Amino acid sequence: MPDASLTLEDGGAVLRLSGIAPDGRDLRFHAIWLRDNALDPATRDPGNGQRLITLGDIPADCHLSDVRLDAGQLHCTFAPDGHMCAFPLGWLRDHAYDRPHANNAAALPEGAEVWDATLNASVPSGVMPDLEQNGAALRDWLAAIRRYGFAKVTGMRAEPGALFGIVDLFGHVRETNYGRHFEVRTEVNPVNLAYTGLGLQAHTDNPYRDPVPTLQVLACLENSATGGENMVVDGFAVARKLRDEDPRGFALMAGHDARFAYVGGGGVHLRSRRPMIELGPDGALQAVRFNARSAAPITDVPFDDMADYYAAYRRFSALVDDPTIQVTFKLAPGEAFIVDNTRVLHARRGYSGAGTRWLQGCYADKDGLLSKLAVLEEEA
Ligand code: FE2
Repeated sequence: MPDASLTLEDGGAVLRLSGIAPDGRDLRFHAIWLRDNALDPATRDPGNGQRLITLGDIPADCHLSDVRLDAGQLHCTFAPDGHMCAFPLGWLRDHAYDRPHANNAAALPEGAEVWDATLNASVPSGVMPDLEQNGAALRDWLAAIRRYGFAKVTGMRAEPGALFGIVDLFGHVRETNYGRHFEVRTEVNPVNLAYTGLGLQAHTDNPYRDPVPTLQVLACLENSATGGENMVVDGFAVARKLRDEDPRGFALMAGHDARFAYVGGGGVHLRSRRPMIELGPDGALQAVRFNARSAAPITDVPFDDMADYYAAYRRFSALVDDPTIQVTFKLAPGEAFIVDNTRVLHARRGYSGAGTRWLQGCYADKDGLLSKLAVLEEEA
């Protein structure tokens, strides 16, 4: 980059770099930021990349005493300790923070996109033997989960425990008080065909845990009853619709904790206090929690806001129930699906008639999934 040039400002507290940003803007870096992020082996372990210093090791009056460009590298000398290090200009461009920081109201995580019922035409799916043997197929399937927050799996063995094979593709089971896995099994009364298994409203699982399980896997072993389809809803799409319709209601749901509880047998009393719509400090969407069955009394919303909070909560619930945003599929034995439990709500439709419905479920975590995806993408 022959056009790069640099200037020290504010007594060496700030470096201004020209000619490296694609849009032509200058990029400024603070001396303290550069020193803290130095790439030299005394600052970062060359093996694992872990930082070897703390801020206490950097003088409070750290500043740049000398800078120069050479062969695509920025060479820095810091004062008062005389520390020297170099940064590739490409690294500085990739890690620049001197840019407009937009208000990211309800922005989606990187790689995610919202969806609605039109996704019924192309439900993301992978075939188990491909996922186990073909890195590109696994990468594409994991990327679909990052993008949509759910995906199906077909071609599994319809055997107890087969669901663990899905988690083995990327990570580890999250064991809970329900065990390593749980059974979802219903015998529909064969002599009373009018019997109808109740549907369940779409929900996220276990909002009473903190942290919640960030992935859920449900695998089908038997499904001979009529109905009983699985349904998923994009909680981020619901949150963004609410924000468009009722910004104040959205802000109330994001700005106040709800409470969730589960009191089970065997000395289990799980409680959490978290918002139903969770945002990052920049307003970007981080998670939704929605589960009428385990919602505890909400006591963190001021009296004067409670009526409006409930109006927004009711609207969120109605949007979840709107068929135009729901994706529905019936699992056959040997099929499964995985959901990002911080984003996608899942449900079971009602079922009737003679037959058996048997699924096994387990939890896992998204950090392992995204780690596996990052490794596969680096290899590609
Ligand atoms: Fe559930």
